[in-house]
Amino acid sequence: MSQASPIVNHRNAEFPIDAQFLERWSPRAFTGELISEPEIMSFLEAARWAPSSNNGQPWRFVLILRNDPEWDTLFATLNANNQAWVGKASALIAVASYQLVAKAGSPDLIPNAMHAFDTGAAWAYMALQANLQGWAMHGIGGFDKEAGAQVLKMPVHHTLQMLAVVGKRGDASTLPDTLRQREAPNDRKPLSSFVKRGTF
Ligand SMILES: Cc1cc2nc3c(=O)[nH]c(=O)nc-3n(C[C@H](O)[C@H](O)[C@H](O)COP(=O)(O)O)c2cc1C
Repeated sequence: MSQASPIVNHRNAEFPIDAQFLERWSPRAFTGELISEPEIMSFLEAARWAPSSNNGQPWRFVLILRNDPEWDTLFATLNANNQAWVGKASALIAVASYQLVAKAGSPDLIPNAMHAFDTGAAWAYMALQANLQGWAMHGIGGFDKEAGAQVLKMPVHHTLQMLAVVGKRGDASTLPDTLRQREAPNDRKPLSSFVKRGTF
């Protein structure tokens, strides 16, 4: 099993925050080792506690461990640039959202305008929890969502948002050249570019 290559993390916060926010990043080099279902359920447990509009909890997750029968068919839906590294991951978590919500005081279902927004919060909780447990989680939108939905037998009124790739960080030398050069935590825009006071 390959060792994780040393990583220099140049991330700096402009204001004090907990270190976990700077330490979570999305590697592509993985060891290919297996992950147990209880370990991954802790990631999903964290997602469960995300806030959502009216506590509607519109997130839905489908777990595929690398030895599961659906692994190969789901892997086949990935773009070539993602297939180049996802093969050494330990699990895929399909992140979907349910588009409808019960109308207050009624059994009727109405569109939930916040389903995607709330599901994004759950994904972020899950990714942070994975990092705290010593695993990496790398979101990907680069796959055929229609084909993915078929593999996953996704019901109507759901949106397949992304796949969360789960793995133990491995050695960057296992990656193709272009990806190896990018195998480090990236930076962010300055706060001043997206935070304003009073009005936009
Ligand atoms: C919804 C979503 C889709 C993404 N799609 C891809 C993808 O298809 N392939 C990929 O290599 N990375 C993908 N990423 C990873 C982002 O490029 C990465 O999160 C971003 O550069 C910030 O880096 P960090 O996660 O290391 O902090 C995706 C991330 C998110 C949240």
